[in-house]
Amino acid sequence: MPSRRLTRVCCALLAVGMLHAASAAPAISDARADAQAAAWVKRMTLDEKIQMVHGVGMPSPVGGASYIPGIPRLGIPALASADSAGGVGGLNVPKSQATQFPAPLALAASWDPYLAQRYGAQIAKELRALGFGEGLGGGIDLAREPRNGRTFEYLGEDPVLAGVLSAARTRGTQSQGVIATVKHFAANDQETQRFTSNSVVDERTLHELSLLPFEIAVKEGGVGNVMCAYNLVNGSKSCQNKVLLTDVLKGQWGFKGTVQSDWLMAVTDTVPAALAGLDEEEPGSQDDNAVNFGVHSHFNQWLKAAVLDGRVPVSRLDDMVRRKLRTMVKFGIVANPPARGGVIDVAAGHALAREVAEQSMVLLKNDGATLPLDPARIRSVAVIGGHADAGVLAGGGSGGSGVQSSGAAPSPDNAVACLQPQAAIGSDHFMTGCATWFKSSPLAALRARAPGMSFSYLDGHDVAAAADAAAQADVAIVFATQWSSEGMDLPSLTLPNAETDAANQSYDQEALIRAVAARAKRTVVVLENGTAVTMPWIGQVSAVLDAWYPGMEGGPALARVLFGDVNPSGKLPLTFPQRDADLPQKLISASTADVVYGEGLRMGYRWFDAQDIAPLFPFGYGLSYTHFGLSGLQSRRGADGGVTLRVTLRNTGNRAGAEVAQVYANLPALSGEPPKRLVAWQKVMLAPGETRRVTIEVAPQRLAIWDVSAHRWRMPAGPVGLAVGTSSRDAAALGATVREDGGYL
Ligand code: BGC
Repeated sequence: MPSRRLTRVCCALLAVGMLHAASAAPAISDARADAQAAAWVKRMTLDEKIQMVHGVGMPSPVGGASYIPGIPRLGIPALASADSAGGVGGLNVPKSQATQFPAPLALAASWDPYLAQRYGAQIAKELRALGFGEGLGGGIDLAREPRNGRTFEYLGEDPVLAGVLSAARTRGTQSQGVIATVKHFAANDQETQRFTSNSVVDERTLHELSLLPFEIAVKEGGVGNVMCAYNLVNGSKSCQNKVLLTDVLKGQWGFKGTVQSDWLMAVTDTVPAALAGLDEEEPGSQDDNAVNFGVHSHFNQWLKAAVLDGRVPVSRLDDMVRRKLRTMVKFGIVANPPARGGVIDVAAGHALAREVAEQSMVLLKNDGATLPLDPARIRSVAVIGGHADAGVLAGGGSGGSGVQSSGAAPSPDNAVACLQPQAAIGSDHFMTGCATWFKSSPLAALRARAPGMSFSYLDGHDVAAAADAAAQADVAIVFATQWSSEGMDLPSLTLPNAETDAANQSYDQEALIRAVAARAKRTVVVLENGTAVTMPWIGQVSAVLDAWYPGMEGGPALARVLFGDVNPSGKLPLTFPQRDADLPQKLISASTADVVYGEGLRMGYRWFDAQDIAPLFPFGYGLSYTHFGLSGLQSRRGADGGVTLRVTLRNTGNRAGAEVAQVYANLPALSGEPPKRLVAWQKVMLAPGETRRVTIEVAPQRLAIWDVSAHRWRMPAGPVGLAVGTSSRDAAALGATVREDGGYL
């Protein structure tokens, strides 16, 4: 393990410090950005102002997702955006050399803000090289409903984990002169009826959970763009929701950037949208009176008419324009407009993609030290299923693979043919039900890593043949895949089979795992998944490694983790339940519009803790090839109500590895909170035998609750228990108690 790695302490503070060194765009002060924007607005005609608040429609003339032309007479450049959840891509980007990274959910499993910052920065460099000044990556809706088909695009189920990583990613993006986006604001937690569903959430749950990652991204990340969602929140469309957009986002949090609509269906009423605080409609169109993709746009002729007859004050239009322009100035679009034809550092992109994959894989089970594969003990390996001979799986939709193909046949961009090339997703005519598989074969990477070992490959279709091959080998590795996409929810967290995902699965994966495990000496299951997976077969296998959607370098990264060149250090960013029935929402209804957040504050692990349900694997869980010990916890409450913790971490094994010291708070009983919440963490890399004393700061707001009578954050009065451990259910966690006095933040 190189010493550079050994000295890496991953924490938010360090990430902030390092950010300056990584910045490519010169910092532009708020005052200068505001002044420039205000000066322009004074000189703009009404038509020029209207031009700045909507895109010209789909498809964008320059590729990507949206395009706002510039105003040359004033020196205002054009602005193009592209989807970029895990790499520049999305539906309309021409094939390019852009790196496709592991999915954002994988990034969340790294628990590493510095890695998130670098992920954001590299994708931003590539956006710029392709001519885009705004990246639409940055989904941070919580995994309230893990069957949500977009869970892979988000950062897990905890608001602080998602918020802190999003803020770091945002700083990385914006350090490269690209406007970052967080989305979908707010409570956009499932895809079923996605244009019409209504999330019914009480005020406290909204602020403490759904909104908190956005609040952190705004306040700590300084994000320039917030995309409002398709769904309604408490009866009002997100993009026409004054409480969310004006009162909370712009008022309480002081957001100075742009509120941008989600695409096509997010706006239905021009004046309410404008008055609620929407600043930009996308993808927009040249003519609001025309119907494109089944809908009208609103912020062109219709907004102009509303301004002319006074239904929307000119001051509101000016505010929209000012926000857009100040954001473009602030993040370097004006000083240095992105232009197509830039050079992408492909090697740097791939190296980082591999590093993210390696740092995000979660070792869930490892009985008898089955992993890492030891060439001295293991001579033959049966690799089975999951197209491991061809590539690794990617998620679908705008935040997915970056390459959309019918998948009818393998192609340079898709390693696997689709079983139903015509498969479409619901009413979303832009999305295909065919998965993309990046050409990064785990089998080829395993063979390259261990040339002396014998590898056989069976595609899993013939279960009996697979079991026979497994019985012959020293170890069987079954690759199991779970495809998910924007535009659809999963029917279940059960591994999909030919019935539940006919376009992408030809056999019953659970039956395959059981059959192989029954005959193999040792069975390792490698998961490529976009959300939690239930594993009724877990007792039959020796090891499980979760690789998520591991991106373009997934094959080599998997080989390096399986052979122990890299010691896994990922931790689950969401709970893995034993069964779907253990989730708070029993089923995702396709017939009722209301999605009632009846569990209130008991979202994610909070639900399992409060209901005393044992999960399959808890939030924050993940094994290592080495062992760690925690000791010597000290706590000190600061004058502001925050807490400083000091704890010693020791690597007690004989391999280098990283551990995540996680801090959970148990708030006073009267606060009405679930048993615990994540309040801070620190990921530390340790050499074998190394001991490190680390300091972890818990900011006051992490301990606060939302007071619904004052509509403010308030510290709960009384004893606050703090547990420092290596998962949310670590029996060996260390405990401390501090007393909080109460009072508003
Ligand atoms: C998605 C957004 C995406 C946009 C542009 C929408 O359907 O919800 O997340 O950025 O399309 O592709």
